[in-house]
Amino acid sequence: MRIDDGPGTSGSNVRSNSRQLPAPAQAMLDVMNRLEGNVALVTGGSRGIGAAVALRLAEDGADVVLTYQNSAERAAEVVERIQAAGRRAHALQADSAVPEALTAAVDEAATVFGRLDILVNNAGVFLVGPLETLGPAEIDRTLAVNVRAPFAASQAAARHMDRGGRIISIGSNVADRAPFPGLALYSMSKTALVGMTKGLARELGPRGITANLVHPGPTDTDTNPADGPNAGMIAGFTAVGRYAEAAEIAATIAHLASPESAYVTGASIHVDGGFTA
Ligand SMILES: NC(=O)c1ccc[n+]([C@@H]2O[C@H](COP(=O)([O-])OP(=O)(O)OC[C@H]3O[C@@H](n4cnc5c(N)ncnc54)[C@H](OP(=O)(O)O)[C@@H]3O)[C@@H](O)[C@H]2O)c1
Repeated sequence: MRIDDGPGTSGSNVRSNSRQLPAPAQAMLDVMNRLEGNVALVTGGSRGIGAAVALRLAEDGADVVLTYQNSAERAAEVVERIQAAGRRAHALQADSAVPEALTAAVDEAATVFGRLDILVNNAGVFLVGPLETLGPAEIDRTLAVNVRAPFAASQAAARHMDRGGRIISIGSNVADRAPFPGLALYSMSKTALVGMTKGLARELGPRGITANLVHPGPTDTDTNPADGPNAGMIAGFTAVGRYAEAAEIAATIAHLASPESAYVTGASIHVDGGFTA
């Protein structure tokens, strides 16, 4: 039995229409529709983990708005796939480094489908290298996209969310463990999200809104391809000895977005194949 978040929570209504189904089929239908009636915004949803999250949230029943910076065609493809699956979807060009553009995108996401229930702070940049190569431009860019943007988007989204709202940010396995040189700037930016998430959880908990952080391990995307030059070494840092598929990260995010996770907040959850074990 699904535990509701309380008044104002949107969620699946299919149960009442399908009471005659056998229990396993009903359970599957519940998962497939557990986000029905919810609207999600995924930043950086045109590629990689963000695209997988957008598709998974739609599979679970949500309508999805996604932002992108440059990849208009890839964003349109994600929108088409979601629409083909019977959900509504919309793509917005918005550079997360520009707070006005980002908050305007959050506001538009809340109006285009009439509400906003789930924010996934996914867009990120991965600027790594020896200390002396990371100048003010790299520092500013990293902090703008990886830290200020999740904060600003959460702030804007919280204004639109009712009880049952979900803020889920994407950190990194290297927030907790920097296993090779060159990660100081990127790791710093992802660790900042731990504090932000705890603060959001405290502040928004009384309103029935949760805030959580997911730390992916090495995940096969354009930024970190599983056949890249250092992939063997990186996979070797995990307990399972391999990269994740983006869909494996999306599965945990979908769970956190669901009504079943109403009591999970302020948490940092590693989906990293044991990288930090
Ligand atoms: N892949 C990994 O191994 C890994 C591990 C741990 C954490 N992460 C984190 O997971 C998140 C996604 O990473 P990924 O590997 O999926 O990256 P990716 O494949 O390079 O995709 C990045 C996505 O973010 C968007 N984006 C980047 N900068 C943006 C900006 N300034 N404004 C708006 N959108 C922006 C991109 O949009 P465009 O397509 O328009 O460029 C794209 O949709 C990041 O936060 C990353 O730090 C990744």
